Amino acid sequence: MNLQTSTPELDQSPWGAWRQSDPFRRYPVMWLLDGNTRLHSIRVMGIAVRIGRAAGLEGPRLETLSTAALLHDVGKVKVPEGVLLKGGVLNDHEKAMIQRHPVHSAEILSSEGFDPEVVEAVRHHHERFDGRGYPDGLSGNRIPLLSRIIALADSFDAMTSHRPYRRAMGVSQALGEIWHHRGDQFDPMLAELFVALFDERPLEGIPCDPHVPHRDLMHSVRVHREAC
Ligand SMILES: [Fe+2]
Repeated sequence: MNLQTSTPELDQSPWGAWRQSDPFRRYPVMWLLDGNTRLHSIRVMGIAVRIGRAAGLEGPRLETLSTAALLHDVGKVKVPEGVLLKGGVLNDHEKAMIQRHPVHSAEILSSEGFDPEVVEAVRHHHERFDGRGYPDGLSGNRIPLLSRIIALADSFDAMTSHRPYRRAMGVSQALGEIWHHRGDQFDPMLAELFVALFDERPLEGIPCDPHVPHRDLMHSVRVHREAC
């Protein structure tokens, strides 16, 4: 099996970037994350790559998106687990600790010598289109394109995943939320593209259920790889 080659049909697979990069081997920093965040990161990568392709990204730019989407939350290793996994309302200090994680992610990746575009994309993945996000309150097109894509993929996966403090939303409800918040939370053009994309073809191959056991996820990856 040659991981560097793929058929045109497989190029459409959201796992294309995964096949070519084998992230756990290439980015051992992933193993520092807890299991749920690691699985979330993998799903976000698959979804972000699909949005990126639909938005016209290709080649090295798509690879940059894939890397940034996979590693966007590595900064959570610096947030105490008790805060990260806390159910219920966070106090201001805890909220501030969580909201530092994109900065921590950027610092970790910068110190590891990652491409500045990856570092920037990761730093800004919690900015909002209306400027009310964090850490820098950027708005509109001042938010890097890759960050706007990751924000969509991240929110969709978060909404459709169970959390200690709430149940997962159904896919159509999550798409409704994305549609509703186009222009305030999300880049309106990307949000419309994402909803249309999903209507046209579900995100097959991405195990969206966060409770999918790790072995099933790895099986899914293997199936896609063996198809090469
Ligand atoms: Fe995040």
